[in-house]
Amino acid sequence: MPRPVVWIPRRLSEATLARARRDYDVILKDDDSPGTADEIVAMSARADAMIPCHSERFGADVVARLDPRLKIVANHSVGTDHCDLPALRSRGIAVTNTPGVLSDATAELAMMLMLGAARHAVTGDRIVRSGGWDFWSPAFLVGKQVTGARLGIVGMGGVGRSLARKARGFDMEIHYHNRRRLPPDEEAGAIFHADLDSLLTVSDFLSLHCPATPATEGLMNADRLARLPRGAILVNAARGSLVDETALLAAIKSGHLAAAGLDCFVTEPGGNPTFAGHENIMMMPHVGSATVRTRDAMGFKALDNLDAFFAGRRPPDLL
Ligand code: DGY
Repeated sequence: MPRPVVWIPRRLSEATLARARRDYDVILKDDDSPGTADEIVAMSARADAMIPCHSERFGADVVARLDPRLKIVANHSVGTDHCDLPALRSRGIAVTNTPGVLSDATAELAMMLMLGAARHAVTGDRIVRSGGWDFWSPAFLVGKQVTGARLGIVGMGGVGRSLARKARGFDMEIHYHNRRRLPPDEEAGAIFHADLDSLLTVSDFLSLHCPATPATEGLMNADRLARLPRGAILVNAARGSLVDETALLAAIKSGHLAAAGLDCFVTEPGGNPTFAGHENIMMMPHVGSATVRTRDAMGFKALDNLDAFFAGRRPPDLL
């Protein structure tokens, strides 16, 4: 019986590619650029499965053109906002993601952004690196302390809970908003806010960890940013669409927000050029899950899902 053919558009970890090649006939897109709509459609006639990243868009327009040969889209991402799930399901195509395995890496990056934004990491690095450090004063680069501060977390899935564990190590007081209240053992003393606005008013730091859906698009708009305490710091390592970037820039310019730490932007790749002149916005290029261990774990999870599917079992992360 011929082995299933799997299209892998992006350069996954070496361990992932080695395992994929061991078990499947792999077609690898050799330039590591995002798969275009036409490439996705063309490859659906040559592959039984695909392992895309969040950079490959499976909108309804693309899904309608897919060849019936394609049976499963095993995403190498936890986020699935790049996929029109109802459209894929209506074509009988299974869709999976990679929950859990990237929670710690992404929470580490959120913590880094929080600390870096709070302590002027971008400015400090620039001053020292440029050779321009010729001054010191007790009033120099004075930041905001996280110890004892209130951290608001929007979305208490795997990443949000991991961030809460890490932030407890910094003696932060954890508050959260989630669709459902967590059981006490998972809550671990965190304070639940059924109402997002109630969370905002107590968040000295606010970190976003909810999925991007039509309901969360522009979640942090001018009105909600205004509800944060003056001098608050916003962190987004989830999806760019959660934040109204024009409103964020206005809040930074007015000083209502002291700083922000962003790993995600409305436009990716690229980011938002209007943020560039503001060193109190610390920015990273969507690399929350980019550690060696996590890239392997994401790739292996995608392959576990394919293995189950082609063995006739329910994939563990079937959506
Ligand atoms: C995810 O898994 O959703 C991350 O954003 C990386 O794609």
